Amino acid sequence: TSTSASGSAQEPAAPALQGAGSVKQQISNLVALSLRATVPEVDVEPIVEVCTGKFGDYQCNNAMGLWSKVKGSGTSFKNPNAIGQAIAKNLPACDVIESASVAGPGFVNIVLSKSWVAKRIQDMLVNGITTWAPILPVKRVVLDFSSPNIAKEMHVGHLRSTIIGDTLARMFEFSNVEVLRRNHVGDWGTQFGMLIEFLFEKFPNWEELGSQAIGDLQVFYKASKQRFDEDAEFKDRAQQAVVRLQGGEEKYRAAWKKICEISRNEFDQVYKLLDVQLEEKGESFYNPYIPQVLEKLSSQGLIEESEGARVIFIQGHQIPLIVVKRDGGFNYASTDLAALWYRLNVEKAEWIIYVTDVGQQQHFDMFFKAARMAGWLPDPKEKKFPKTSHVGFGLVLGADGKRFRTRSTEVVRLGDLLDEAKSRSKIVDWTDEELEQTSKAVGYGAVKYADLKNNRLTNYTFSFDQMLSDKGNTAVYLQYAHARICSIIRKSNMDVEELKVSGNISLAHPDERVLGLYLIRYAEIVEEACTNLLPSVLCEYLYNLSEMFTRFYTNCQVVGSPEEPSRLLLCEATAVVMRQCFQLLGITPVYKL
Ligand code: ARG
Repeated sequence: TSTSASGSAQEPAAPALQGAGSVKQQISNLVALSLRATVPEVDVEPIVEVCTGKFGDYQCNNAMGLWSKVKGSGTSFKNPNAIGQAIAKNLPACDVIESASVAGPGFVNIVLSKSWVAKRIQDMLVNGITTWAPILPVKRVVLDFSSPNIAKEMHVGHLRSTIIGDTLARMFEFSNVEVLRRNHVGDWGTQFGMLIEFLFEKFPNWEELGSQAIGDLQVFYKASKQRFDEDAEFKDRAQQAVVRLQGGEEKYRAAWKKICEISRNEFDQVYKLLDVQLEEKGESFYNPYIPQVLEKLSSQGLIEESEGARVIFIQGHQIPLIVVKRDGGFNYASTDLAALWYRLNVEKAEWIIYVTDVGQQQHFDMFFKAARMAGWLPDPKEKKFPKTSHVGFGLVLGADGKRFRTRSTEVVRLGDLLDEAKSRSKIVDWTDEELEQTSKAVGYGAVKYADLKNNRLTNYTFSFDQMLSDKGNTAVYLQYAHARICSIIRKSNMDVEELKVSGNISLAHPDERVLGLYLIRYAEIVEEACTNLLPSVLCEYLYNLSEMFTRFYTNCQVVGSPEEPSRLLLCEATAVVMRQCFQLLGITPVYKL
């Protein structure tokens, strides 16, 4: 075997560096090698970003920080720029980087090699988009999302939680992380006493009832609540029913199950429409674990008596976290503590993520802190995992600027809303015969995208007209953009499948290079969206990609040009990446092959 004569710094990058992970990750690996050669005495993480200026594609920003560490320590470097020069020079020779230059106080601008970018795209076309999955530092995630409450309305907030949670799950799954999709339904609590008694009263034959027979469960809930408020004797019975249910009495358990089943059927219809997978592990599931979990916390001295309740005092919070109510019952917080304990110790999740409206932020903040006090979670300064995150989101507003409602009903019935999106999508001018199929994909996709494209923390205004417009940053516009690319490929007389293997992508034109470079950023975009739990990052990428494609297509003739084979492959790669974005956003692309 032959070794390079010019010494180790010139040796090609180790095989492990080739191919796997995002481009940013690969550049970081190369920079790490250079840093080790440049300042062996200092241990630093590479700082690599996408270039903002036009002198490079990626930049390494380590020089300035390193300078403040080494100056005055007898270093031979004269200034941060000199460190930057050394970092640039010590980058291992490899086929990834074309050149590196230093700007200002030591920014190292890295230009990627065109042929490497082209090869990466072609490899993806041959081996599939899964080869562009980022590598994340976790193996198993619990994603707690959707989580409506039994017999109460599943409102727009739950729709947001369902859509955001599903997208996050899809992005993690694409990144080869195991996701436990958990529906933490509110199926336990005092409201069941009144529901059960009302069921006995209204439907003496309740045991034989099918799941549709009660009719509208929300109406049922309201009526039983009214009865509860107006009749002291009924109220009394309802309260006893809670005790009997929690004591495990057969008849009460059966009635509770029936009510849950009816609710579940309604929820499942929505999940089916949205194509969302979820595993129900409701509050009741964790109920048996509560006493032992509280016992542990108690023995650690964390639980105190306060005004007849049992509570945990938490630094920075005026009001303590109540874990046993004054009447001796458990609550939302005690259930969440038991669930977290279970997820950490039984399910062995490294990252537990909760998707709810921002209104619940304080609850999550408090019980996360309680878990940290108990030593369940490491100090985030020392270790990254296991960890918990609350993915909060803002309100959905109507045209009047108030909380969104449809027609006269107080809340939005999700099924109705999706129906409306679907029927309105028919006005979209797609080919006639495909209308029925496409309207569902277009309509539901529009609802999802309108939600996901916003920074989730901001409130957004729900508008069918806006989300179904074929102009601007909408799913409909993106559907058209993608369908147009497919039709370009279809109309050419070349066989793209064959080109993938035999053809060659060249990125000679500046707009080809810009498009190619943006395509290969796909993995780091998914990585960022997962790391920061922000689906909007992926939406923004998808929209930008379609804009970049338009620029490329305007300035570079595809069909009939000498560059047709290469440019068709760029079209195909753009379509593949766009489809994968749709897939992660839970949107069905509509197109003809
Ligand atoms: N059922 C709750 C609600 O509708 C959401 C539950 C969120 N998950 C949790 N583990 N607390 O507000």
